[in-house]
Amino acid sequence: MEKNMIKKIAPVLILLSLCLTPYLPAQERHLDVPYVPTKYPVVDEMLRLANVQKTDLLIDLGCGDGRIVVSAAQKCGARAIGVDIDPDRIEESHENAAKAGVKDHVKFIQGDLFQADVREASVVSLYLLTSVNIKLRPRLIRELRPGTRVVSHNFGMDNWKPDQTSNVMVDEISHDVFLWIIPANASGTWKWTMGEPKANWEMNLEQLFQQISGRISVNGASAALKDAVLSGDKIKFTAERQLNEKTVLFVFEGVVHGHTIAGKVLQNGKELGEWKASRNPVTQKDIDAGSGTDIRY
Ligand SMILES: C[S@@+](CC[C@H](N)C(=O)[O-])C[C@H]1O[C@@H](n2cnc3c(N)ncnc32)[C@H](O)[C@@H]1O
Repeated sequence: MEKNMIKKIAPVLILLSLCLTPYLPAQERHLDVPYVPTKYPVVDEMLRLANVQKTDLLIDLGCGDGRIVVSAAQKCGARAIGVDIDPDRIEESHENAAKAGVKDHVKFIQGDLFQADVREASVVSLYLLTSVNIKLRPRLIRELRPGTRVVSHNFGMDNWKPDQTSNVMVDEISHDVFLWIIPANASGTWKWTMGEPKANWEMNLEQLFQQISGRISVNGASAALKDAVLSGDKIKFTAERQLNEKTVLFVFEGVVHGHTIAGKVLQNGKELGEWKASRNPVTQKDIDAGSGTDIRY
């Protein structure tokens, strides 16, 4: 009898607690990160490092009083979205956007940052914790378009090293700002033909986040793969071939798009022609190797 009663009222209690959560005082709601606003000189540096432009859509995950969102709209002319779980912060954000006269450029969503749809963002800003960044990381890498900038105040991404770092002093306190460019996944085996007579090229790339390295061969003879760089969807590397006892350098530049890379080949600074490589889809690997350390903060 008692068990039946519990079964009946349990769903009602769960629904009631979910509905009431937004009305609980902040300290009784579950926050993954406490509210600490980013000082304005640091906000400015985050926008500068991420090179926010009016063509951008910035999403601030855990937006607090909306200052990064409002500044992106006011100073850079960007569209911007703020997500925060705390309804008091969302209310302040709306007020601040109205005061700054940027209501039309911004949107605020009350919700969990782990559920937020980030796919349309060209810039994501964070002032969270390393442990929260690491939890978000696989989604950022999987769901954001290659080339999207992720900028973070003070907290890193563990073994995903930033592409750029800067630092701002405010009231004698040092603040780090980190920038990552979401890399395309270029891992796996790529093949193309090129030159006269036609030669068969094959390249095997290993990738960890934005770092790439690997091997290359031409008609089965190995060549050295050097200076391989990936930034967003742009790839560049040099192949060093031995031809008639001479060393010949081919510089490849291209754009990774799904299972193709297309671009141009240069020799001694002169364009030799175009190249287009295809990847065997089953050779593509995950580029996020998981966290390297046990992060507790
Ligand atoms: C350190 S503050 C950063 C505020 C703002 N981004 C800034 O830099 O000024 C972190 C914010 O994340 C929010 N927050 C914490 N856990 C959250 C979650 N799971 N989903 C959405 N927001 C969350 C807090 O309410 C707080 O406003």
